[in-house]
Amino acid sequence: MSTELKHIISTDQFLEEETVGEIFEAAHGFKSMGSQDYPETLKGRQIATLFYEPSTRTRLSFESAAGWLGASVISTENAGTFSSAAKGETLEDTIRTVEGYASAVVLRYHEEGGAQRAADVSGIPVINAGDGPGEHPTQALLDLFTIREHRPEVDGLKIGLVGDLKNGRTVHSLAQLLGNLHEVEVVGVAPDSLQLQDRYAPHGLERASDLAEVIGDLDVIYMTRIQKERFASAEEYDELKDSFVLDAALMEKAKADAIVMHPLPRVGEIAPDVDDDPRAIYFQQAHNGLFVRMALLDTVIGRR
Ligand code: NCD
Repeated sequence: MSTELKHIISTDQFLEEETVGEIFEAAHGFKSMGSQDYPETLKGRQIATLFYEPSTRTRLSFESAAGWLGASVISTENAGTFSSAAKGETLEDTIRTVEGYASAVVLRYHEEGGAQRAADVSGIPVINAGDGPGEHPTQALLDLFTIREHRPEVDGLKIGLVGDLKNGRTVHSLAQLLGNLHEVEVVGVAPDSLQLQDRYAPHGLERASDLAEVIGDLDVIYMTRIQKERFASAEEYDELKDSFVLDAALMEKAKADAIVMHPLPRVGEIAPDVDDDPRAIYFQQAHNGLFVRMALLDTVIGRR
């Protein structure tokens, strides 16, 4: 591996094409094999998944990935309530304990910076599976993997990030990763109060507030959910929750070779009538999460 990865905290660790290329090559390998051929490179290892916020895809795909590669999994899916955090234990103390039980920890925490705090005290690899409104680097890797399956060049594409770009961690990590590795035009499509902060787009971005106006120029339409859990009041959320709805009628304005992505879960921002459109690839994207996470676990833990 060109860049030594102990922990995976941020997409700002992925500055070299070589590193990402090796992970994607491994992911393609897993995708093209039958499960009976998966190598047991993690045999004898134990992966802890410690989740302080809800998850379906991220936790299950990590656990599935670990299992397919021969590791066993220990898991706390509602760590804020069911782990000793409920008794007031700090994240640092929890991590110092878990490192005695496992070979690596996949952590989803409710506050930005949680994964870095964990890595600072951890003797075992920490993989950030989402730190509040911060980052979600493994999602960004599977997003880029999926984009490249459809548009291998990536350079030159116009990529629309749509929805809650302020609180959505997937778009933070994806904007950074694209900026690190590619020459793309990023368009942030969001209400003013939910626009992408400059720090996630160091090479600049175009900002828009009306999806219908820009959709015809986009090669990638990356939809996201308004992040209800980050709003201080229900009124504020209600005002913004229906800011963007992509439906079959709006898809008529999109390019014939555009792709529609979403990290999921969706809560109304993509109408079900888009699902049968061949440009809608969000379930393929979710499936790719398994292969990219197998590749990450193999790289970070299997080869050490
Ligand atoms: C995302 C997350 O948790 O940040 N989900 C995911 O991991 N696929 C997106 C979201 O919750 O909106």
